[in-house]
Amino acid sequence: MHQLFATRAARMKASEIRELLKLLDQPGIISFAGGIPDPALFPAEAFSQAFQQALGAGSRALALQYSVSEGYMPLREWIAGHMRQIGIDCGPDDVLITSGSQQALDYLGKLFLSPGDTALVGWPTYLGALAAFNAYEPRFDRLRAGGNAGAAQYRAAAGPGAVKYAYLSPDFANPTGETVDRQGREALLDLAEELDCALIEDGAYQALRYDGQAIPPILALELARKGDLQACRTIYCGSFSKTLSPGLRVGWVVAARPVIAQLVLMKQAADLHSATINQMAVHQVAQTCFDSHIPKVRATYRARRDAMLAALARHMPEGVQWTRPEGGMFIWLTLPPGADGAQLLARALETVKVAFVPGQAFHPDGSGANTIRLSFSNSDEATIAEGIARLGTVLRG
Ligand SMILES: Cc1ncc(COP(=O)(O)O)c(C=O)c1O
Repeated sequence: MHQLFATRAARMKASEIRELLKLLDQPGIISFAGGIPDPALFPAEAFSQAFQQALGAGSRALALQYSVSEGYMPLREWIAGHMRQIGIDCGPDDVLITSGSQQALDYLGKLFLSPGDTALVGWPTYLGALAAFNAYEPRFDRLRAGGNAGAAQYRAAAGPGAVKYAYLSPDFANPTGETVDRQGREALLDLAEELDCALIEDGAYQALRYDGQAIPPILALELARKGDLQACRTIYCGSFSKTLSPGLRVGWVVAARPVIAQLVLMKQAADLHSATINQMAVHQVAQTCFDSHIPKVRATYRARRDAMLAALARHMPEGVQWTRPEGGMFIWLTLPPGADGAQLLARALETVKVAFVPGQAFHPDGSGANTIRLSFSNSDEATIAEGIARLGTVLRG
């Protein structure tokens, strides 16, 4: 049968992370692998009430019926207000609800990429973005920090295809935890202007800042330059997955109207709309407790990040380097040259029952063998201290 599959299918491979997660359901393993929220932080009671309310006599017909592809209007209004709070002046008609921000990444690949076009991405970058874009048969080029010096090079390297967009997560990226400073964001906007390409700003972790000064989103900076969302080339993807719940699959896109209109057509063709009842519940919970809930999430993850940084300082041997993220869920380790993250994982699982994600998969060119990603979001401080101590013994051994 596989000879019948389209060429794009050959590029779609099982995600190393997902395959790995399947193996980790064993007792006794300390896992820093999956970058998932701690379920203890889900506002479960608020969701329980919200679903009951949505299924109440007054709203059940709406909750259970087909609906519009753009999304549930009260939620789009809430999101527009939230966006305005972080400096992005927009209204509900500028917002499309998606089934997680992952769906937005897929649609954006579908919208922009013809086979052979170039997508600029970080080396490393979010694996799910690579997987989403890859299905549209692009070539990937490395998005380098540091401005528009590379525009001519990018264009020359793109060959017959065009550079269509740059994708990045400027706040607390997956997998590195790093943040792009304001100057870097401005330089990216300059680069996008020079290349006449779009910029996809992935704000999945934007709300999870633990210290330091918030930096305006790239879309906010572009709006400050141009004064009109409709003139902007930045496309902002947001998500409730890291703040309220990933299981409900509710995310959003904010962009200029022509982009939103085209994405709406894609959504109509793909799944008609995201589950209305989930959007209603997310709206209800966001409205009643987003502002009180987020500080709790931040406090919990901040303590875990601090525990992991302290344990790394104590237990890592000479030659291992790591990032010091101001938010998000990840710390990125660079091992000495020649070290192999995948081999280290095999040893760590076997000898000390510690799991993490080898970094190579996050690099489209297959580099980064000596890197690993650690997630601190889903383990308490004592477990983090124990797990990092164990990892230290393997690295020294
Ligand atoms: C950087 C980044 N973007 C997007 C997503 C997708 O999240 P969701 O589809 O749940 O919104 C993730 C999930 O891990 C992520 O790390």
